[in-house]
Amino acid sequence: MSQTRQASLRALAKINLDLRVLGKRADGYHEIRTIFQTISLADILDVEFTPARGTAIQIDGDVDIPDNLIAKAAALALDAMHATARVRFRLRKRIPMGAGLGGGSSDAAAVLLALPALAGRRLALPRLVELAAELGSDVPFFLLGGAAVAVGRGTELYPLPDWPVRRGLLIAPAVHVSTPAAYRALTPRLTTESQQNKIVSFQSQAWGELGAGAGVNDFETVVFEQFSQLARLKQRLVRLGANPAMMTGSGSALFGLFRTREQVNRARKSFADESVFPISLISRARYQRLWWRTLRLYIEDKLWPPLSRCGQGRPIV
Ligand code: C5P
Repeated sequence: MSQTRQASLRALAKINLDLRVLGKRADGYHEIRTIFQTISLADILDVEFTPARGTAIQIDGDVDIPDNLIAKAAALALDAMHATARVRFRLRKRIPMGAGLGGGSSDAAAVLLALPALAGRRLALPRLVELAAELGSDVPFFLLGGAAVAVGRGTELYPLPDWPVRRGLLIAPAVHVSTPAAYRALTPRLTTESQQNKIVSFQSQAWGELGAGAGVNDFETVVFEQFSQLARLKQRLVRLGANPAMMTGSGSALFGLFRTREQVNRARKSFADESVFPISLISRARYQRLWWRTLRLYIEDKLWPPLSRCGQGRPIV
């Protein structure tokens, strides 16, 4: 009898509602303050898991991604569980790559969340967070979802209460921004004097209402200098009524959040010549329910996915 277990995972994208880079650290990473938010755009990752004497990891899909984090995440998770298995993935890539949307990181976190359930084992949350941080600075956030403040290199997370549901548009121009290069361009401009101001103004963003003050993404200065078309797209979003209208991560995607459906539709028409995705913000409660529904066949107790006080309590089936 085949012991194959399967699941179809939805790995959601993120946007940064605020992103400040404070300075370069001794370990080569940068100290940041950011607000992450999960959105409705998602990759679909089908997994087939069969316990076996040796481990074999295979990834099929509509794009060939060198150095795919999915394989790395699977190997790390199996190692941590002391398990061996044949794991077959099929990736349907929907989240634009190199756009600051965390697609690769979300795929990796999805693997970390799903494999223990499929293997019938448990990995404690601190261990999961450790593995996630090893895979990349944005990966731990996708274990949590919703809205969260991230500090340090981006792996230290503090959940935020949800904002009211907002609809928006994501614009993904055909521009690829290298994250290390964007950090390198920004480093010479960082001063200790500006750090304190950034922390104060970041705090007011984290405390306040979405769109009440202008969110800031420090990468916009350096990335807009190199790709002036991105600055123009942002201005167009603002003119169409988006608030906030910003670049996400180190770019190149931009998003705008709107008050009404009519505004979204009007903006969508106006950007018909660009690669545009309608999006909505996904709360932590919805994010965790989604995971619960995806994996509930394989989860024995109800204390999963890892919940925080800041979620809505237990997942509702
Ligand atoms: O952690 P991750 O592999 O996603 O980071 C990619 C690159 O982005 C790092 O190698 C580093 O150059 C840069 N980075 C940084 N500071 C951070 C996060 C990323 O300098 N907080």
